[in-house]
Amino acid sequence: MTLTLNHVSKAYGRSTVRAVRDLDLQINDGEFVALPGSSGCGKTSTLRMVAGFEAVTEGTITLAGCRIDGLSPARRNVGMAFEGYALYPPLTIEDNIGFGLGRGSGADPKQRVRDLAELLEIGPILKRKPAGLSGGQQQRASLARALARHADLHLLDEPMGQLEPQLRAVLRGRVKALTKAHGLTSVLVKHDQTEANAMADRIAVMEGGVLQQYGTAAELRDRPANLFVATFLGEPPMNTMPGTVEGEGVRLQGEGNLRAALPGLAVPAAGTEIVLGVRPHAVMLGRGDWQGTVISNHWLGDEAHVALDVGGRTVVAVTHQRVASRTGSVVPLGFAPGNTHLFDAETGHALMHGAHPA
Ligand SMILES: Nc1ncnc2c1ncn2[C@@H]1O[C@H](COP(=O)(O)OP(=O)(O)OP(=O)(O)O)[C@@H](O)[C@H]1O
Ligand SMILES: [Mg+2]
Repeated sequence: MTLTLNHVSKAYGRSTVRAVRDLDLQINDGEFVALPGSSGCGKTSTLRMVAGFEAVTEGTITLAGCRIDGLSPARRNVGMAFEGYALYPPLTIEDNIGFGLGRGSGADPKQRVRDLAELLEIGPILKRKPAGLSGGQQQRASLARALARHADLHLLDEPMGQLEPQLRAVLRGRVKALTKAHGLTSVLVKHDQTEANAMADRIAVMEGGVLQQYGTAAELRDRPANLFVATFLGEPPMNTMPGTVEGEGVRLQGEGNLRAALPGLAVPAAGTEIVLGVRPHAVMLGRGDWQGTVISNHWLGDEAHVALDVGGRTVVAVTHQRVASRTGSVVPLGFAPGNTHLFDAETGHALMHGAHPA
């Protein structure tokens, strides 16, 4: 069901500091949204307000057209997998997952529990109780419980944080497929942005309690709204170089009198102080107007990460060809103007996206 947050803020206790500030967010029926962001940016606070474990300080929350911000958690039809939202110790895993299943949960609730357990690879522990299970097993049981009821909304806060990366990669594909098959509206909090990208229809990036940008992975990659989003998403992060607009391009600060020509692009007025952004995958090695000295060169099996010193700046390039360049060798480098971004040096707001003009 559609979830709408309207101007939602959160201040804890008597603090005047807002953990979440003026958050507007709509998650459409059946949509899977990821909420990545650095530690302390307000992700869990947001989820806890939607679940009803924390009161909103300002703003409103509606689910399926009804105001829910005044309701107790039990009266919101929300499935939750949270740290600290424990399984019931006296019940078996099977009964924990199936708790509250009944009306409206299909012909055979027990079969639904078994299917979920199989999907999350916890079939063998269904008859056990939570005590004595590993952290990863408890997490998966909790995730299964959150998904079992096919609630109006599913809130998942780092639901697989304790699993090893291989298993996590398999399970996230299955969980995504399950939510799509049943049209389950879901919000996933993730530190790991790769995982967020892989699972989500849309991504809401938060920082300092403030929503920075909300869009598809492709929108956030091609048209980051500001320097924070540009450098937060993407591995290795975008290269950023301060400079000034000059004619049809930019002149960079620092040594080497470096210029980047941006012909045909909507560059801001001459004299504007900017930060030039170029993703490592867009840096070409072996040709171009710049020269760099190789600082390090790591072959990662299918791509090389090469760090170069370019007139005192470090520029990272990712290439799928093995580069023979050794540390200390000097190589030409460049990038297509279409693969650049310009940000306002003072505010960080995006001013121009090369191949994706506004
Ligand atoms: N119960 C609380 N009382 C007081 N301050 C709190 C409380 N819970 C969270 N905060 C503060 O609110 C801010 C946001 O915390 P929150 O837990 O929402 O962050 P988060 O994005 O989930 O971080 P993490 O990735 O580390 O889980 C932090 O500054 C945190 O210290
Ligand atoms: Mg958290």
